[in-house]
Amino acid sequence: MRHVIPYEDLKKVNSKFEEEINGAIQSVIDSGWYILGSQVERFENDFAKYLNVKNCIGVANGLDAMILTLKALDLPPHSEILVPSNTYIATILAIVQAGFKPILIEPDVSTYNIDPTLIDQKISSYTKVILVVHLYGNPCDMEAILNEAKKHQLYVVEDCAQSHGAKYQEQHMGTFGIAGCFSFYPTKNLGGLGDGGAIATNDDILAIKLRALRNYGSNKKYYNNFIGYNSRLDEIQAAILNVKLPYLDSLVSHKNRIAQLYLSKISDTYIKPQTSENSYHAYHIFAIRTNHRSELQKYLQNQGIGTEIHYPLPPHKQIGYQHLFSENYPISEVIHETILSLPCSTAIELKDVMYICDVINEFE
Ligand SMILES: Cc1ncc(COP(=O)(O)O)c(C=O)c1O
Repeated sequence: MRHVIPYEDLKKVNSKFEEEINGAIQSVIDSGWYILGSQVERFENDFAKYLNVKNCIGVANGLDAMILTLKALDLPPHSEILVPSNTYIATILAIVQAGFKPILIEPDVSTYNIDPTLIDQKISSYTKVILVVHLYGNPCDMEAILNEAKKHQLYVVEDCAQSHGAKYQEQHMGTFGIAGCFSFYPTKNLGGLGDGGAIATNDDILAIKLRALRNYGSNKKYYNNFIGYNSRLDEIQAAILNVKLPYLDSLVSHKNRIAQLYLSKISDTYIKPQTSENSYHAYHIFAIRTNHRSELQKYLQNQGIGTEIHYPLPPHKQIGYQHLFSENYPISEVIHETILSLPCSTAIELKDVMYICDVINEFE
């Protein structure tokens, strides 16, 4: 029988936790308290402890985590936010939805993350924030980014939707800037069974404001200090995340073992991901690059191996967004044209990874 390895298998990923998840959901049902209850509070405390950060605020999804953060910073109208040209659309959308202007910065061609050496030339009197993305789970060069931020008096916000468990100089991503924004979309390293998100911050005042913003601008029932949103982390999702959080490090270790096998076994004719110094990659995604992407993808599909493309079209070329940008971003474009994500699920076994490496190396 043909060996089939899907790119991802969320049912299998979550089956390990099924009994505990069922118990957690039942306990929410039994509690009779379904919005902002003890499960959300416990998750916020435990995730803050995990990250080693003072505050964690649960919200409805990763996009909202960024929108609320940018809104809470009280930036002046027409503020410009520096953001990598190579990211998932949510990062750009958050800036636009918050009412600000995204200014794209090309990535480093080997880490795929924002190139800090290109920041200087994009600074204007309107620049207020650098919104970095630890793409695929690969930590950005935070030392260089923090230096640039200090030099130009900018906030740093981290999009950590793909980097749960990743570290830079032994410190968790999401704890370097004013705030770190997380998504718990089901495919993420820490994924719920629905939407979810959180903001991590060491700034107590910002945390109070974010707690209000996610809940109609209210810190006290029926009193509204801000024009807020309805963006609360759901109690059932929080209960599920409480089950999975203690396993996060072992899930990320498994992904690292998969990545190490790919890195050592796949032929050097492919461009393999590079990690910046002093970093621990979370390998949410393991992507290689090749000029023969569509042929390789088809070949792997025929051999029963699922792959994905993260992402086929850069933000500045998306129909809904192209009017926002006038420049070309050739590094981002070449990454988008050549990138291919290989299975790196916590549900796959190392022997499957060896098999995938053999199949890839036989492709000509
Ligand atoms: C880099 C990045 N930022 C933000 C998001 C948005 O997260 P969500 O889908 O929870 O809104 C995602 C994910 O889906 C993402 O990959």
